[in-house]
Amino acid sequence: MIHAVERPQAHAPTHCTPEQYDAMYRASVETPDAFWLEQAQRLDWFTAPTIGGDWAYDPVAIKWFEDGKLNLCHNAVDRHLPEHADTTALIFEPDDPASEDRSLTYGELHREVVRMANALKKLGVGKGDRVTIYMPMILEGAVAMLACARLGAVHSVVFGGFSPEALAGRIEDCGSRFVITADEGLRGGKRVPLKANVDAALNLAAHATPVEGVLVIPHTGGTIDMVEGRDHWLADLASDEDCPCEVMDAEDPLFILYTSGSTGKPKGVLHTTGGYGVWTATTFHYIFDYQPGEVFWCTADIGWVTGHSYVVYGPLFNAATALVFEGVPNYPDHGRFWDVVDKHQVNIIYTAPTAIRALMREGDHHVTSRSRASLRLLGSVGEPINPEAWRWYFDVVGEGRCPVIDTWWQTETGGCMITTLPGAHDMKPGSAGLPFFGVRPQLVDNEGHVLEGANEGNLCITHSWPGQARTVYGDHERFVQTYFSTYVGKYFTGDGCKRDEDGYYWITGRVDDVINVSGHRMGTAEVESALVLHAKVAEAAVVGYPHDIKGQGIYCYVTLNVGEDGSDGLLAELKAHVRKEIGPIATPDIIHFTDGLPKTRSGKIMRRILRKIAENEFGALGDTSTLADPSLVERLIEGRQNR
Ligand code: WTA
Repeated sequence: MIHAVERPQAHAPTHCTPEQYDAMYRASVETPDAFWLEQAQRLDWFTAPTIGGDWAYDPVAIKWFEDGKLNLCHNAVDRHLPEHADTTALIFEPDDPASEDRSLTYGELHREVVRMANALKKLGVGKGDRVTIYMPMILEGAVAMLACARLGAVHSVVFGGFSPEALAGRIEDCGSRFVITADEGLRGGKRVPLKANVDAALNLAAHATPVEGVLVIPHTGGTIDMVEGRDHWLADLASDEDCPCEVMDAEDPLFILYTSGSTGKPKGVLHTTGGYGVWTATTFHYIFDYQPGEVFWCTADIGWVTGHSYVVYGPLFNAATALVFEGVPNYPDHGRFWDVVDKHQVNIIYTAPTAIRALMREGDHHVTSRSRASLRLLGSVGEPINPEAWRWYFDVVGEGRCPVIDTWWQTETGGCMITTLPGAHDMKPGSAGLPFFGVRPQLVDNEGHVLEGANEGNLCITHSWPGQARTVYGDHERFVQTYFSTYVGKYFTGDGCKRDEDGYYWITGRVDDVINVSGHRMGTAEVESALVLHAKVAEAAVVGYPHDIKGQGIYCYVTLNVGEDGSDGLLAELKAHVRKEIGPIATPDIIHFTDGLPKTRSGKIMRRILRKIAENEFGALGDTSTLADPSLVERLIEGRQNR
């Protein structure tokens, strides 16, 4: 048993004491409608809602605040103008520390958002249109999201590290006719050809969805092609005229964000306006315990949900100052994070265990050579944090002064769900902690029996919360199938989880065919589809295996067409092929050429066996007698690549 670490007393004042947490949590589950209607007042509504939740999980229909009307750009920007026009809203720290940083006050942010919204209008963007955003981590990425929200357009941000193929699929799936991009991005000193990737994607996607307009933001000044009539520089369309915020229904869509699942193509998870707004505003306030004047830094890219909720919406709803970082933790050296902390006097940092582990490996001197005196709170998100990395974060980075919050949540949950609160709870290294207000976790066994008390099982949530995703864009049946059919009447998270005697939750990782590589969700099926697209590949099965830095690595079993050899050349070619199809984050760590995959006599691949071999735990393979070719297992163990 890992012992609790008392919350450092340096943490004061706080938005939530232990007593307040207990009382508020109780109210949030006993009278959820009253509780959330009160929290909804954190936002400014054109028409205040009188209805809280109206939801059911069987059949699945989820609504919150449905009679309310609001606009989230107004809430993130305009409504702060009377008091905060001169408060810094966003700080930009460039990839290259020698380049100039930049910041926008709320007043300046308002102007930038209006200018971009007017440009989008001229392109033809209107309420309900989907707009794909494919941007580097620059302020215009956040501005683009807010400009869409202002017009009532639905943004679909695609991570700038995805390939043209992956981008094309996401443009097509939501029928997006507009793209916002930059000439190029910069990461760790390397240029990312964003506009060229958009061009390539549009050539691929041309038939299904004609993209009418591409808005291009100049960033590096690199040479790009502009297609006459389709592509426009922001400056050529932007204008300062008045651009009022659209009045949106609470349940109007705000954004689509693609995420990987156990099967098929990535799903377009859909979030709506009112509930997502209330959830991100409330979680940001209590979980990060933000105090006016502080600088908040979430290191996630806006291409992921963490960037949506805690680089852009959550902080801005709270009139906070948020840092947008273009670079990576190890450029120009492994002390960059702490340089940025010192330079901008960051008080709260929110990052992923993979970054913490990578920095830990490089030695303490990169940290201790920087002051970090401004730091007050340390956050972790995206994957389970191992206690050793937690300890290093707490002891070395935070010098024991700063509480660590380990926040469990998902693209589908909109914002944080399980975490300790910095002023209310003791911490346990490796445990996310306790449910946030309104969150009702439940553990069930594989048959769906509810497990009480200290126990381990599959993590479900039994009651809706405002930030919950409403559907999968264009495929509600898939939404129902994926999340509500394994255990009918409950939302199934796909995660395994332990609960201890203090009621603390310990996420153990995915129990489905999703792997978590450096905090990025990757569907093994997606990597398999990419591999079998290669002319020499007959079959592929992909599983995760423990990886020191990435949390999980990508282990691919590949069978080749007759007459092909598994040479080193082909190995490199397959890795490059997957990068091209999906993007660098999907690059296989290990490719294991095999003459067959373990299948049952009915042809089903026994992934359990493949997982065990990849984990190097082939001592416990379980029953292999149902295999069509039991001798294959010996050959797979013999040829295993993770020794
Ligand atoms: C994992 C990221 C353990 C989990 C916000 C979840 C975590 C998936 C944690 C969602 C955490 C996220 N501890 N595991 N603190 N946070 N996860 O959609 O497996 O990119 O299901 O959302 O990441 O990943 P997603």
